[in-house]
Amino acid sequence: MQSFWNDRYSQEEYVYGESPNEWLRECLGGLPPGKILFPAEGEGRNAVYAAQCGWEVEAFDYSEEGKRKAEQLARKNGVQINYQVADAGEVHYPASSLDAIALIFSHFPEALRRQLFPNWIKWLKPGGYVIFECFSIGQLHYQQEHGSGGPKDSALLYALDQIPTEFPGIEFSVLEEKEVMLQEGTYHSGLGQVIRFIGKKS
Ligand SMILES: C[S@@+](CC[C@H](N)C(=O)[O-])C[C@H]1O[C@@H](n2cnc3c(N)ncnc32)[C@H](O)[C@@H]1O
Repeated sequence: MQSFWNDRYSQEEYVYGESPNEWLRECLGGLPPGKILFPAEGEGRNAVYAAQCGWEVEAFDYSEEGKRKAEQLARKNGVQINYQVADAGEVHYPASSLDAIALIFSHFPEALRRQLFPNWIKWLKPGGYVIFECFSIGQLHYQQEHGSGGPKDSALLYALDQIPTEFPGIEFSVLEEKEVMLQEGTYHSGLGQVIRFIGKKS
């Protein structure tokens, strides 16, 4: 899969656009800046936006091409981000060291998620936030009807009723499955079905 993403990102165009995800924009608008982590951040549109809003930004992805383009976007916008090329299973942060983690179209196999996410929540300070927008299982239908992108393997998609189990210790202030009109570059375009949430570590 790593070579799939490197190929996809090797063109000069930003395939998910240069603008941030709208849910992320809305959530960050209500939070004081601190230190935020973007797992599986691809070409960097969300990380760069957060840095523009005054956040100290950490990001990772296993695509070298993703890092190249994210750093190029950061330079273009005059901000700094700390982006490492790494598989999700290899990344470590100290406990209680982050104010927020933003998972924006960060899709991992269900079995892996159950190992990763409880660990990631440990990296959050008490009162830190998880911001999340990813495709739901319902997106399989939207892919066929609307060609709006996302993984084709159902094990990579999220189910609304499993979110509280996958994110133990998070108090959700918004948690919903939603039909959205995606306008995020070539590959997220058209009607889609996502799960969105914002929640706080208790
Ligand atoms: C749909 S893209 C989303 C990129 C970015 N979050 C955004 O919203 O523009 C999914 C990303 O997940 C990354 N990815 C998938 N599995 C990964 C893993 N196990 N470790 C690190 N990155 C991974 C891919 O390289 C790709 O950049």
